[in-house]
Formats: sequence, structure tokens, C-alpha cells
Amino acid sequence: MEDEFIVDSPRIRQFIADVRLTLQEHPVQEALTALGPAFAALLADRSWMPDEYTQPAVESGMGGGIATWLLFRSGSGDLSLFSLVVPSGSATPVHDHLAWGLVGLYAGEQDERVYRRVNGSRTHDELHAKLELAEQNHLRPGDFYLLMPPEGDIHSVATISREASVSIHLLGNDTGCTWRHAYEPQAGTVRAFKSGWSNVPCKDGETK
Ligand SMILES: [Fe+2]
Repeated sequence: MEDEFIVDSPRIRQFIADVRLTLQEHPVQEALTALGPAFAALLADRSWMPDEYTQPAVESGMGGGIATWLLFRSGSGDLSLFSLVVPSGSATPVHDHLAWGLVGLYAGEQDERVYRRVNGSRTHDELHAKLELAEQNHLRPGDFYLLMPPEGDIHSVATISREASVSIHLLGNDTGCTWRHAYEPQAGTVRAFKSGWSNVPCKDGETK
């Protein structure tokens, strides 16, 4: 399988080349820290993102008009770059990612709630997950954070600005095509979840 540059520009090719080189030279956590300035520059740069990838989606694997626009993915499925568009007033399900990542705000504002899975009880199995709120963050354009599972990997984001929020994700998997988990913290339940991509099918031929 070959790399797919859905946004094919020198800017994005250079960014992905920098990411790969940094990951080759450093352990993941160090690499992500080292990539912080390049990621911040990408969030601040208004020149590279096609307008269509800042828009909500009519049909959505996440619900609520939420769009997952794939911008790049590696042929081996170990790297993806995408924008997540959450309309004003919409919120993602509580979900995990199952991969390391860098996530930052490009436009709008989000309320992020990070959850901790409480281990060691009889309710910790495939269908039940007891979560407790670990952190709540107000994210503005330019803010970004690291995902480093299992720490801080379960969260939800809601758009609190009048305009849709657009966040840019660099993840260590083909996130839209990965079976992961969606949680209902109130009910204490968990289900298998695959968001799909709003603009491309998954490589197994499924739409999501
Ligand atoms: Fe997320």
C-alpha cells in the first residue's frame, strides 16, 4: 500500500517527512515533544488547509454533523493526519484512540473532558467501563496536547464557540479505520466504535 496525500502540497509533504525523521531518531514521547514547534506552526499557518476540510459533514460516523477529514495516511497504516470538525453545540462521544498522537486547535474553541478508566473492579470487562473525570480543558486555537495511551487516551470534545471547531490530529494509526471504543460514562458501558473517514473509504473496502 502506498502513502496517500489527500492534501498533496510541499507543506504537508515536508511536515510528514519531518515527523518520520524525528520518529526514527527518538523514542515516541521525545519525538512528539520535539515536533511541538512544527505542529504549532502547522496550526498557525492558514495557507495549506483546503476550505472543504474545515466544514461539517452531512453523514457522520461520529454523529452530530461531526466530520473526520483524512488529509494524509501512510501506506502501512502507522500514521495519519486529519481534521476533526465539530459543529457549534455538538460533542463527540467519549472515545479512545489506541495510538500516540498530537492534537491541536486550528479554529473555534472546545471543552475537552479527559477520563480515567477505573481498574480493578468486577465491572471492568468488554461491555462495562467505569470512568471518572480526570481533567477538563478549555482549548483555543493554537493549543495542542499529546496523546500517549494508556494515559489520557479517553476523552470527549464539545464545541463551545459559535463557529465549528477544527482540530488537527497527527496519530500513530489509521484512526478512522481502527476499531476502538466509545463509552457512556453515566451508564458505565463501552462499545466497539469505528468512526470512518468522511472523505475516503477504509482500505478493507468498508465505507468505515
Ligand atoms: Fe479524540
